[in-house]
Amino acid sequence: MRLSNQISIELEAIPVFVPHIGVDTLKYLTDAFAVGWLGMGSLTQEFEHAIAAFLDTDRHVVATNTGTSALHIACMAAGVKEGDEVITPSFNYVADHQAIRMAGGTPVMCDIRDDDLGIDCVKAEALITERTKAIIPLHFAGIPCDQAGVYALAQKHGLRVIEDACHAFGTTIDGKKIGSYGDITVFSFDPVKVATSIDGGCVVTPNADEVRALQHLRLLGVDKDTTERYKNQRAWEYDVVSPGYRYHLTNIMASVGISQLKRVDEFIASRQSVCQAYSDAFRDIPGLRVPATDFSNVSPFIYSLRVLDGAREDLIEHMRARKVQAGIHFIPVHKHTYFATAPRGDMSVTDRVTQEVLTLPLHSNMKRAFMERVIEAIVSFFR
Ligand SMILES: Cc1ncc(COP(=O)(O)O)c(C=O)c1O
Repeated sequence: MRLSNQISIELEAIPVFVPHIGVDTLKYLTDAFAVGWLGMGSLTQEFEHAIAAFLDTDRHVVATNTGTSALHIACMAAGVKEGDEVITPSFNYVADHQAIRMAGGTPVMCDIRDDDLGIDCVKAEALITERTKAIIPLHFAGIPCDQAGVYALAQKHGLRVIEDACHAFGTTIDGKKIGSYGDITVFSFDPVKVATSIDGGCVVTPNADEVRALQHLRLLGVDKDTTERYKNQRAWEYDVVSPGYRYHLTNIMASVGISQLKRVDEFIASRQSVCQAYSDAFRDIPGLRVPATDFSNVSPFIYSLRVLDGAREDLIEHMRARKVQAGIHFIPVHKHTYFATAPRGDMSVTDRVTQEVLTLPLHSNMKRAFMERVIEAIVSFFR
């Protein structure tokens, strides 16, 4: 901004993501250091219980060091192995596809629906073969996909479902939180998620045998380590009963997660109201398409709208000049070099939608001035 007296005031840049870490989290962190047990321990278990309480479920939660590692061991626990196929959208983060390959499976990429941008179950059914083991739908941006359609398909063809709810921690369907029912659900608590443990994730399952398998997979296949470490101690006599990885979540990271869960309802409510204000401001602009939800049941990880008529890149430039950053979720996975030859179905919706999607800044307890500047940056482009 240039004032008449020649003093220039720099506009503060508005990032897409801003973590919400308050003094409350710092207190939990220092208390965690004071426990004197830095690795996986009692706080990891406390975090797992807090996740289950938040989801309002008596299901088991297995915390991991990332959402990606949670997806990997979820695939293994679901029985995905060499030669198996797993159907997931190409319109997704690459974590799912990598996790399927890490488990030995082949990702088969499916198109999405034009409304909720979730997996297209009709197209998914056409991709099912005798090698299909599981389906991994994504609740994009926190907005529920056609979950009933996915489970109907899974039941008809005897498939496991691993819901990628990394964007949807707190989203409800028919009044029940995603992850509190169904088959296997995976969440992420990475640095930009609605609730973070700096990095972290978890698997939620109703199956006690699967929990044991997941706990072994999380910690090098060691049989007794989880129960001992929950008491902040090590098992000195143990057996190794399965393959395993170093995927556990430490006490220190868990303490951050616990502190965030204390405030997650506040974070979600604040994000919902920003999303509603965005949609109200943009709904009637002919060159835009706002998400097909009123956000009342959505825990919004991002606000992603559609920019029509090939105007996205010009809009990004216009926003950049106003120091409003924008993101793109996602580059479709079938366009990446490493997945160029992976099997896929028709990608017509994915190919169009990925030219249109634009992610606007969305923060927990976002500054009102930021929200107004984002709205003005968009509206002024179309004026
Ligand atoms: C849809 C989706 N799945 C999985 C992941 C992986 O989670 P993490 O970053 O915790 O490994 C992400 C991360 O952004 C994601 O957006």
